[in-house]
Amino acid sequence: MCGIVGYIGTKHAYPILIKGLERLEYRGYDSAGVAMISESGGLNVYKAKGKVSDLKAFCEEKDTTGCAGIAHTRWATHGEPNSTNAHPHFSASGRLALIHNGIIENYITLKEKLVSRGIQFRSATDSEVLVQLVEYIMQSNGIELLEAVQVALHQVIGAYAIAILDREHPDTIICARQSSPLVVGLGNDEAFYLASDASPIAEYTDKVVYLNDGDIAVLQLGQELKVVNMDNETQTPNVKQIDVTLGQLEKGGYPYFMLKEIFEQPSCLRDCMRGRINVDADRITLSAVIDYREKLVNARRIIIVACGTSWHAGLIGKQLFESLCRIPVSVEYASEFRYRDPVIYPDDVVIAISQSGETADTLAAIELARKAGAFVFGVCNAIGASIPRQTTTGVYIHVGPEIGVASTKAFTGQVTVLSMLALCIANERRTIHGDQYKEMVKELTQIPAKMELALKTNEQIERLAPIFTYAKNCLYLGRGYNYPVALEGALKLKEISYIHAEGYPAAEMKHGPIALIDSEMPVFVIATRDRLYEKVISNIQEVRARGGRVTALVTEGDTQIQKFADHIITLPDTMDCFQPLIASIPLQLLAYHIAVCKGKDVDRPRNLAKSVTVE
Ligand code: G6P
Repeated sequence: MCGIVGYIGTKHAYPILIKGLERLEYRGYDSAGVAMISESGGLNVYKAKGKVSDLKAFCEEKDTTGCAGIAHTRWATHGEPNSTNAHPHFSASGRLALIHNGIIENYITLKEKLVSRGIQFRSATDSEVLVQLVEYIMQSNGIELLEAVQVALHQVIGAYAIAILDREHPDTIICARQSSPLVVGLGNDEAFYLASDASPIAEYTDKVVYLNDGDIAVLQLGQELKVVNMDNETQTPNVKQIDVTLGQLEKGGYPYFMLKEIFEQPSCLRDCMRGRINVDADRITLSAVIDYREKLVNARRIIIVACGTSWHAGLIGKQLFESLCRIPVSVEYASEFRYRDPVIYPDDVVIAISQSGETADTLAAIELARKAGAFVFGVCNAIGASIPRQTTTGVYIHVGPEIGVASTKAFTGQVTVLSMLALCIANERRTIHGDQYKEMVKELTQIPAKMELALKTNEQIERLAPIFTYAKNCLYLGRGYNYPVALEGALKLKEISYIHAEGYPAAEMKHGPIALIDSEMPVFVIATRDRLYEKVISNIQEVRARGGRVTALVTEGDTQIQKFADHIITLPDTMDCFQPLIASIPLQLLAYHIAVCKGKDVDRPRNLAKSVTVE
């Protein structure tokens, strides 16, 4: 979704704002804008359609002076992407500038009211209504900005993270949040930073405050951070220390974040397991399982709620929990679950999986589960995000910031956490034998080294990729634990190369998709040596018999499949349940190289956003 940045201090604001927008560009990139109070006291607002680089080019000859400013990178919801609809939006008099992330659901009613009172709107956005409403309230009641914001937000229904700059008070930025993320950074030199997540702030300070729903923060130069609510009651800011290195936020020599993140998976998974699997690799300790043992061990059922790639990780989680813990699991798209009036029991455990921890549908599903009295557990990456704060407990995946819009390391991190969780619960429930538990824990610790071997397929895949750029459709087939890998492989290809792709359980292919197969259709089959290996070979033959072109992922030492496949990609062997951690790597690389061959912007695929904070 949209990204928000703000700065007020003694330094030149513009470079800080632009750098911040670049760090947040993964959230949206159809237009961008910046507002600053200049040295001469004017409120300068510059906006451009396109990426942050377009905004930078547009600002080259402009007055970008000043030590206070707000900036925004947009992912359009209301109104087409153009410079008028780009943020910041001005108030009618030009005194206020506002940026917004979220959706104002009652904006039509509010707009009609303001229009009937003579206020002219410039844009087609829902966001402009906020700045017009605030100024209208200021003027008609003769009150100051903070009070007007409080009165205005009482009338607003929807989700927002906003920041407002006032030409008459150049030493202050006012911001507020409801259901959309907002973080305030406390600089050492009394400066304040503001952003949708901590990544634009991390290089300036490690002290941040994650605003809560209903918080309104006043960032005033030379003053302590003031946080109040809509009723002007003082809130105590909870200052947190963040631990993000600059290296984690930069490409580190790779052409794209996605490639960097694919390659850092072995070290990320080591980080994910560090401190949780002991040095002898025979025991997993998760504090959430210790603290909430009874709830987890006695779960009547597990419901996993998630979206996108996280939902695919959930499908793997289902197989792990069912097979190891013998607990029935349903995996739900959060967006469907929240509106379906589902049956939720108080002794259900609801696991919400989310990289960003901000996905609006997943948050709403959590709310529903909490209301039904279920125990809600989070599996998240972004520290301090809304989902970890709204779940009773959980496990961070600890793979570091993921910037590439197509999720890679977060997926394998999620699968690793779900594996550790399932093993812990299974061990407590005694649904697996002690030796099996130890053997599996040991194997999990070997996965990063095996991923390093899987990454060696990169050059082969880079050579293969041009063959597939012509394709209009691709099919990904897998069975058992590898079925979600097929879904995820297809999603990666769709997201960044815009080739239509479908993931399918290999045996289901004959009930429909087989009709699509011809010599133009690349079919990627995950055919590693597991308990369904022989069955998958039969499925490959079904494809071959119809002229399909098969690329198979096989286990090292396999001699059978090369007889039927056009191309084979060899992977290290592991236990069936950990195969997704290995087999997803060549599919991530394949999507990446096909997209690069097609000249696509891998880190900023069209129409997508990394963090979807609207429903
Ligand atoms: C967006 C992203 C996907 C992600 C999904 C769920 O669609 O583009 O990569 O899988 O949201 O996000 P979450 O942060 O909840 O995992």
